[in-house]
Amino acid sequence: MDLRGQRILVTGASRGIGAAIARRLLEDGAQVALHYNSSRQEAEGVLRGYEDQGVLLPANLADPDRTRDLFENALKALGHLDALVLNAGVFLPHPIEEELDQWWAVWKRTLAINLDAPGLLTQMALRHFQAHGGGGRLIYIGSRAAFRGETREFLGYAASKGGLTSLARSVARSFGKDNVKSFVIAPGFTRTAMADTFVKEYGEQRLLDEIALNTLTLPEDIAPLTAFICSGQMDHATGTVIDINAGSYMH
Ligand SMILES: NC(=O)c1ccc[n+]([C@@H]2O[C@H](COP(=O)([O-])OP(=O)(O)OC[C@H]3O[C@@H](n4cnc5c(N)ncnc54)[C@H](OP(=O)(O)O)[C@@H]3O)[C@@H](O)[C@H]2O)c1
Repeated sequence: MDLRGQRILVTGASRGIGAAIARRLLEDGAQVALHYNSSRQEAEGVLRGYEDQGVLLPANLADPDRTRDLFENALKALGHLDALVLNAGVFLPHPIEEELDQWWAVWKRTLAINLDAPGLLTQMALRHFQAHGGGGRLIYIGSRAAFRGETREFLGYAASKGGLTSLARSVARSFGKDNVKSFVIAPGFTRTAMADTFVKEYGEQRLLDEIALNTLTLPEDIAPLTAFICSGQMDHATGTVIDINAGSYMH
């Protein structure tokens, strides 16, 4: 995919799926703002060899002020933005057996990072795309959990991804005439640090049993689709959810 001339912000580009996406976009020639929170060294590793094409931007997306700063800093660094990949997220267990305050704190944190931050970035991106005139693309990394539901200890997580999916569809529906396109990529289980929580709890065999393919999905299985969306060749599929879940859930 030739993405030269494209300027793209990727959140959570330090590890896992976001790192694979950022690497792929850099390889395809895009200029990329790689956002990270705590994993500076890992983010540097993703950018290594492509320093002239990218910039590293820290932000704790649990904090709305830092989220706003992130967007402004990405604009300052790249000049303008053609696309955002809203990938950063947390997968935090909070079984209902916990004390209410503890359960609620995890719910709030999950929603803050997985839904509030993408919401803020969406508003800022839409205003920017309108002002810039050329439109743009928003790619939300959702989850199979939004459609299938999640196991009992991840209620907040599934709710956050349901909200993210509705947000993406509303953007597609409402801002298409401004030349804005919006997509959801909905991974199933993907082999990253986030997924290790689940492997520890349920074991790898259970995950293999629930997919149609023989091998678990890797971050590199998600990344090519983001490049394809950024290329513009999927624009008329705006508003869609693309599942990458190894055939584990079809809907
Ligand atoms: N892995 C799966 O099985 C799976 C399945 C479905 C959907 N997804 C979705 O895919 C996306 C990426 O997941 P992943 O598996 O790649 O996760 P991961 O390996 O745990 O990486 C999470 C990323 O999010 C960033 N992040 C976490 N908390 C943050 C905060 N407070 N502020 C800013 N950034 C923060 C991390 O940044 P730092 O490391 O720099 O702190 C990291 O770059 C998530 O939205 C997730 O819900 C994953």
